[in-house]
Amino acid sequence: MRLSDCHNFSDFRRMAQQRLPGPIFDYIDGAADDEVTYRRNTESFETCDLVPNVLRGVSEIDMSVTVMGQKLAMPVYCSPTALQRLFHHQGERAVAKAAAKYGTMFGVSSLGTVSLEEARGISSGPQVYQFYFHRDRGLNRAMMQRAKEVGVEVMMLTVDSITGGNRERDKRTGFAIPFKLNLAGMLQFAIKPAWAINYFTHEGFRLPQLDEHVDMGGGTMSISRYFTEMLDPSMTWDDVAEMVRLWSGPFCLKGVMSVEDAKRAVEIGCSGIVLSNHGGRQLDGSRAAFDQLAEIVDAVGDKIDVIMDGGVQRGTHVLKALSLGAKAVGVGRYYLFPLAAAGQPGVERALEQMRVEIERGMKLMGCSSIEQLSRKNLRFR
Ligand code: LAC
Repeated sequence: MRLSDCHNFSDFRRMAQQRLPGPIFDYIDGAADDEVTYRRNTESFETCDLVPNVLRGVSEIDMSVTVMGQKLAMPVYCSPTALQRLFHHQGERAVAKAAAKYGTMFGVSSLGTVSLEEARGISSGPQVYQFYFHRDRGLNRAMMQRAKEVGVEVMMLTVDSITGGNRERDKRTGFAIPFKLNLAGMLQFAIKPAWAINYFTHEGFRLPQLDEHVDMGGGTMSISRYFTEMLDPSMTWDDVAEMVRLWSGPFCLKGVMSVEDAKRAVEIGCSGIVLSNHGGRQLDGSRAAFDQLAEIVDAVGDKIDVIMDGGVQRGTHVLKALSLGAKAVGVGRYYLFPLAAAGQPGVERALEQMRVEIERGMKLMGCSSIEQLSRKNLRFR
């Protein structure tokens, strides 16, 4: 399969599956428990239909948005995701370059494999730092200080990962960082030599945001163990309020789902919230962000930027979310499979397809700018 054969999310997913060792593919593709929430994320967009208007003069389309003070050329950004160099040796570098080319925001994770500094040098576009609240408060302060010095624009604190989700596919393969595979997992690597050559002929795997602070004991750590052992389950709203003050710039919470929490985010001075269930990877059975969007926009949409992620695979999914009142939409697997399939050209192709789909969708909806999208364009079934 070649990159030119990839026309949508499932094509990229298939190409990534051909290239990646099974355990790595399953780490990206998998979710928690029965993966009910993961499936619902995409299905939720099918609960409503677009109602287009016609004859509105749509020769010029402006799909730019401003979110948390950042101007984006398109309403979709690359959510921060972990361990990208495991998927392709270019990792975050490819994603930062592709995001810069499309004028959009991208994130570097606390579990990123390229440093915040290097990523900053690659893209002049808005950069998000995905942050986890560690038990070690000194580490939290040091990480924030470093992000400030580097010139990261937006702090994005993940609040839905206070403990590890039950990722059964990872349990079966023994996926951990670096690797600690069981026999079946090792066989999966042996049959994907192209990935192995690519991985082992580039610089060694590192977690530059954390490696000065976290002792993996020379051994390995599963994602679930990282969440459970390193992150602070006693974190409260007061801790976050202090972080917001300390950061004194755009700060958003990723993983807020209830109206009550959205209101608290406003009270402590956040500039944005991302409705998210972490790609279905944490609490299985939790609601899809799209299903919850209207309720949250109605409660706080005039006070804070409401963003959502989860299950977005099409330009029309984005148009539906924006019509309900989201200011922008994040994607994760949507660019990770292309990254794994083909590196930077893969991510660029996926973002181009998204841009074209949004443009086409807006024209067919009779909208030349994002403000023209509203709930009048939607009907729930
Ligand atoms: C995950 C974390 C690391 O979902 O974001 O695997």
